[in-house]
Amino acid sequence: MTTLNEIIDVPRSIDECFNYLLDFSRCQEWDPGVLSARRLQSGPCKEGSRFAVECALPVGSIKLDYSLDRVIPNELLVLTGRSAFFEVLDTIRLKKLGKNQTRIDYTAAFTYNGAASAVTSRMAAAFPSAMDEMGRKALQGLKEALEDNFPAPKQSFRSSLGDKLVLPGMAQFSKLGYKTSRQQFTPLTADLRERHMVITGASSGIGLAAAEELARRGAKLTLVMRNEAKANKVVKQLISDSGNQHIRVELADLSLLAETEALAKRLKRRKEPIDVLVNNAGALFDKQRNTAEGYDESLALLLLSPFTLTTRLLPLLKKSASARVINVVSGGMYTQKLDVAKLYDPNPSGFSGSVAYAQAKRALMIATQEWAHEWQDTNIKVNAMHPGWADTPGVESALPEFYSLMKKGLRTPEQGADTIVWLAAATEAGLVSGELFLDRIPRDPYLVPGTRETEDERDRLLAALQGLHVSGAVAA
Ligand SMILES: NC(=O)c1ccc[n+]([C@@H]2O[C@H](COP(=O)([O-])OP(=O)(O)OC[C@H]3O[C@@H](n4cnc5c(N)ncnc54)[C@H](OP(=O)(O)O)[C@@H]3O)[C@@H](O)[C@H]2O)c1
Repeated sequence: MTTLNEIIDVPRSIDECFNYLLDFSRCQEWDPGVLSARRLQSGPCKEGSRFAVECALPVGSIKLDYSLDRVIPNELLVLTGRSAFFEVLDTIRLKKLGKNQTRIDYTAAFTYNGAASAVTSRMAAAFPSAMDEMGRKALQGLKEALEDNFPAPKQSFRSSLGDKLVLPGMAQFSKLGYKTSRQQFTPLTADLRERHMVITGASSGIGLAAAEELARRGAKLTLVMRNEAKANKVVKQLISDSGNQHIRVELADLSLLAETEALAKRLKRRKEPIDVLVNNAGALFDKQRNTAEGYDESLALLLLSPFTLTTRLLPLLKKSASARVINVVSGGMYTQKLDVAKLYDPNPSGFSGSVAYAQAKRALMIATQEWAHEWQDTNIKVNAMHPGWADTPGVESALPEFYSLMKKGLRTPEQGADTIVWLAAATEAGLVSGELFLDRIPRDPYLVPGTRETEDERDRLLAALQGLHVSGAVAA
């Protein structure tokens, strides 16, 4: 048997430490020896929960099947990891040292089994310092994770160059880009249990994946969807998968500004502060269509609606201790220079759904920058993100040729949603405003020469958006 023991003191409440450690799949965030970890069943983590963990070895890797054997809230967690060659018994004891100070005493006891037992135990005995080093690194990782003191994200020379070169830039949108960026991700340990988050378009694709992860992390969610039957099904599933009971639905067709206004009014009547607003709902339309209110549908859904919802919800965002607005844009906007005339009249001589979509996303990016400037002395941070290319029902139906060509390279919806989750949850994400993110890294919003708008064009956009309210086109 080999036994490793490490003790760390961290500046977090015992409840937050326990809550983070209870979901053992998070070990991939803090243990550098873990290649992947996932929960094997849905629902809240409790005694009997199981986790599949893959750990790196000096050569290759090994798969462990972990079970959570004993749970005493805010005191003890005992897990057993079983592999072909050894078993490891992890005993994690927590002790409150102060209101925001906790001691974590972590013991891992390895026993070697089967035919390989003699060889494996001899190897472990021959490399005791390597085993100790492994344990030390893991607990150092856990300490840093719980200290949660990561710097504000910055664009690196590599990511900036990658963005500017066309091929690597496009490759970054694929799942390969996500996998490369992921190597630099830092742990997400912020406690979300008292954070109220509103997510639009949560019934499918990226919005649903963001809602799933934020529900698992304990956030209080208000999910905006337009189809009642679908919404009820989604919420039932989310509650059963996450064990999080704090999930509710608001129904609204966000291509209609009257419904967007009514939604904002209902939320305001609830008086609950909003900590995070995710403007995610969207679609790329193949035909031009005006809504019953007379707006082009792309313009209404992708720009006027998030603009209206955000400005109307400002009082609730201001009530939060620190609020975040996340606007989901698209890499498609890189192809377009803002053209307000085109944006407001997409059918002068032929309609292109992709152009209408990209113009609206470009305009939402500009609104993001303007809001960041306007709110710089407030508690609200606002950023945009683009998900890369993700395999969602929206992409499959709107871009069938692109979808079949790119299918193998597309990200999963979870990978596409990762930056939304990070912007909503990470402590360090609360230090930046007015940026465009891909894979948790700020990116240049202009990559194609000649696509930067003039100051006049920017002013025209802001006047048009503000006119929307001033003219009363949207009822107050
Ligand atoms: N997937 C990608 O590769 C990609 C790339 C760049 C940007 N994006 C952006 O990511 C966001 C999510 O897209 P997705 O790919 O996840 O597409 P998706 O699977 O089609 O999801 C879109 C969501 O928006 C909702 N929605 C659409 N029209 C609505 C309306 N009028 N009122 C209320 N909700 C409405 C949909 O509701 P229903 O279920 O009722 O239709 C759904 O929940 C969009 O803003 C999109 O532009 C995606």
